[in-house]
Amino acid sequence: MAPTGDDSALAPVRLARIGGDGIGPEVVDAAVRVVDGVGGDRIEWVEAEMGWRTFERTGRALPEATVEILENCAGALFGAVSSPSHAVDGYRSPIVELRRRLDLYANLRPLRSGAVDAVVVRENTEGLYAGRERWDREGEVAIAERVISRRATERIVRFACELAVTRAVQCGNPPRLTVVHKANVLRLSDGLFRETALDVAAGFPEIEVEEQLVDSMVYRLILEPERYDVIVAPNLYGDILSDAGAALVGGLGVVGSANCGERFCLAEPVHGSAPDIAGQGTANPIAAVSAAALLLERVGLGDAAARIEEALAEHRAAGPRTPDRGGAATTDEALADLLARV
Ligand code: NAI
Ligand code: MG
Repeated sequence: MAPTGDDSALAPVRLARIGGDGIGPEVVDAAVRVVDGVGGDRIEWVEAEMGWRTFERTGRALPEATVEILENCAGALFGAVSSPSHAVDGYRSPIVELRRRLDLYANLRPLRSGAVDAVVVRENTEGLYAGRERWDREGEVAIAERVISRRATERIVRFACELAVTRAVQCGNPPRLTVVHKANVLRLSDGLFRETALDVAAGFPEIEVEEQLVDSMVYRLILEPERYDVIVAPNLYGDILSDAGAALVGGLGVVGSANCGERFCLAEPVHGSAPDIAGQGTANPIAAVSAAALLLERVGLGDAAARIEEALAEHRAAGPRTPDRGGAATTDEALADLLARV
């Protein structure tokens, strides 16, 4: 058939749904129902698996079949995996492996609550998590190398700048970028991050750019979170800022995140598999639904994402609360309220 130029003729966006372990499948099911409530006909869901149960059954936490499915999707909504607290032969975190294999270099953590509307963009591939650790002096000293490259810094900062510009178009406020570093102490590594970041940001003259040392950044983020827009940071700093930010806007049960590459986005709630409440039907679906909104935004379904965000804001203000938020609602009751609001 010849192209009609009509949007409704576009092929649906293919997305994978991966429940994982514990409450993962419960919250992913809920989030998929919310997504289907706003844009069902534009999405084709494909089921995939990974995690601890998958490992126990197949010997692989991340089966090749799952990687193949993901390579043919624009993104995935993922619940959580349970990781053993002791080393298990052959088991590796599927999330860490996926970040590497799909080159998901940007970790996004929106912080939204009341007047706060910021997003932490964390470099996801190098820094202090580059995995270069070694012993020295016969085990008396442990050394970790911190890797900062111009290339990885350029692409994370470009990602952050493009996000700042997109957000500004959506909300009408001038875009602002905060570059986080500690270049006064780590003169080479953070010096390179800082210099590269400022160079890249200079290519976006509409963005107001500021820099902030990481320690004072945590302090200011907690004291005046509403002043921030897009915050870009090397791996470890971004990890810490993300979690501090999550506490600031309501905690584990409500915050979503996304791991993004050039062609793929893996969105997930920030929380883990919560084995203490798995199977009880009381998991809070908000974090997974927030992650789903992020995913839709990244794969070009921004209008559907915005509807979910609005429903989430109303739900958080006036909907029934699950036990983690001090209420007695079940996952299904919270979901029914969300569905009524989208
Ligand atoms: P967790 O986030 O699973 O749970 C911490 C506490 O928060 C628990 O009391 C739990 O009941 C509660 N909680 C978490 N999400 C909730 C929700 N949606 N609704 C209501 N309450 C919620 O972290 P924990 O206990 O440290 O780890 C449990 C397992 O999850 C471990 O095996 C860990 O390795 C894994 N994990 C996986 C992650 C991932 O898949 N990305 C991230 C963090 C932990
Ligand atoms: Mg973390």
